[in-house]
Amino acid sequence: MTLEAPTAPTRSGFPAGFVWGAATAAYQIEGAAAEDGRTPSIWDTFSRRPGAVRNGDTGDIAADHYHRYREDVALMAELGLGAYRFSLSWPRVRPGGRGPANPAGLDFYDRLVDELLARGIAPVATLYHWDLPQELEDEGGWTARDTAYRFAEYAALAADRLGDRVPTWTTLNEPWCSAFLGYGNGVHAPGRSDPAAALTAHHHLLLAHGLATGVLRERLPAAAQVSLTLNLAAVRPLTTDPGDTRAARRIDGLANRIFLDPVFHGRYPADVLADTAHLADWAFVRDGDLAEISRPIDALGLNYYTPTVVAADDPAAPAPRQDGHQGERSPWPADEGVRFLPAEGSRTAMGWPVDADGLYELLTRLRDDLPGLPLLVTENGAAYEDYADPSGAVHDPERVAYLHGHLDAVRRAIADGAPVRGYFLWSLLDNFEWAYGYGKRFGIVHVDFASQRRTPKDSAHWYAEVVRTGRLPG
Ligand code: FCB
Repeated sequence: MTLEAPTAPTRSGFPAGFVWGAATAAYQIEGAAAEDGRTPSIWDTFSRRPGAVRNGDTGDIAADHYHRYREDVALMAELGLGAYRFSLSWPRVRPGGRGPANPAGLDFYDRLVDELLARGIAPVATLYHWDLPQELEDEGGWTARDTAYRFAEYAALAADRLGDRVPTWTTLNEPWCSAFLGYGNGVHAPGRSDPAAALTAHHHLLLAHGLATGVLRERLPAAAQVSLTLNLAAVRPLTTDPGDTRAARRIDGLANRIFLDPVFHGRYPADVLADTAHLADWAFVRDGDLAEISRPIDALGLNYYTPTVVAADDPAAPAPRQDGHQGERSPWPADEGVRFLPAEGSRTAMGWPVDADGLYELLTRLRDDLPGLPLLVTENGAAYEDYADPSGAVHDPERVAYLHGHLDAVRRAIADGAPVRGYFLWSLLDNFEWAYGYGKRFGIVHVDFASQRRTPKDSAHWYAEVVRTGRLPG
């Protein structure tokens, strides 16, 4: 997989060399939770907490990908995918989060990578997609500075074993969710709700990213690419009134600039520091941290699902939460004075409004804010109420429409100069959708969790055609 500028985009299709992929994450698909030396992660613990995950679902078995990875890679090959974004389970690679590597755990990723390469599919490895070893959480988790150092050691173990064959690495997936849903409102593992802890966790996650980037640079071949994946928010004020634009500025700070400024400019935004001053003095930022955090990276991954519409709070009309996140409490530290509203448009099964322009807005903003930095859409997709009909087929026209609209937004952004090098559909398989359990299906391949039978949905066939032709139909 190359991040080099491909041939010029065309008005009707995608540039030659554009990377077509699909994405998954370890805890959501692997299962085999207690096999071959893997120890519990915070998600194993959290999913057992009564009421934390819908229906009491856990990732114990999930899509059983640990045992079925060959079949799953064969499916990817049938779809014609050029790349596969997966994550490594930290407690599988380094049980307990410290000490030596677990050879049996690394063997699994070794086999997976070899299988992908044998099929001509480029592996894109994410080191952290939310499954912190429970032992590290017991010592403070991401609120403990040490966790960042443990992460860098784990990154070294993974790079030493897989670095000769994995060309593209991502340190963290969506640290916003790890910090703000994990420690801010407790909707995700480890289920803590303390806004000050969320800010501390945020900084330590970024420190982990920086330290791991340094380690990966030392250990990987020079041509390897190191990246970070963020779920940046396409923030829109409801109106141009000053109250609404102030709300948008505040949420843009807490969703976007709180990551982009330290990672790309080596500083935290002054307005975010001011907005959060009543919660934290930011003394957890030590000398040298920002230099570590702002080590150059080769690409930025963007995950996008739906935009974020905000307005000045109206105490007279208290609205239910409308920011697409579960939970009664806000995940946002310091969102005082902000009201979240639904965007226009139809909704997915998550209740998330469908709005492809948000993706275009983010890609063109990144084009302007980070000139020349290669971009990857590392997640995009939708959940719908899918079922297999009596003939066994899964018809998912809404997902096809969602993907069509969003891929067209990517195509438009490329035509307008955004250096987008690839697109990874979320998700290859139906899987464990975190606090929603198995109730929400994001896959283009249907999984019957009782039999583990895989059935490509209509959207999989549609996507295969897009991948094959490099253009959108119609
Ligand atoms: C993202 C996560 C991914 C999946 C999608 C729907 O926030 O990175 O694991 O749950 O949302």
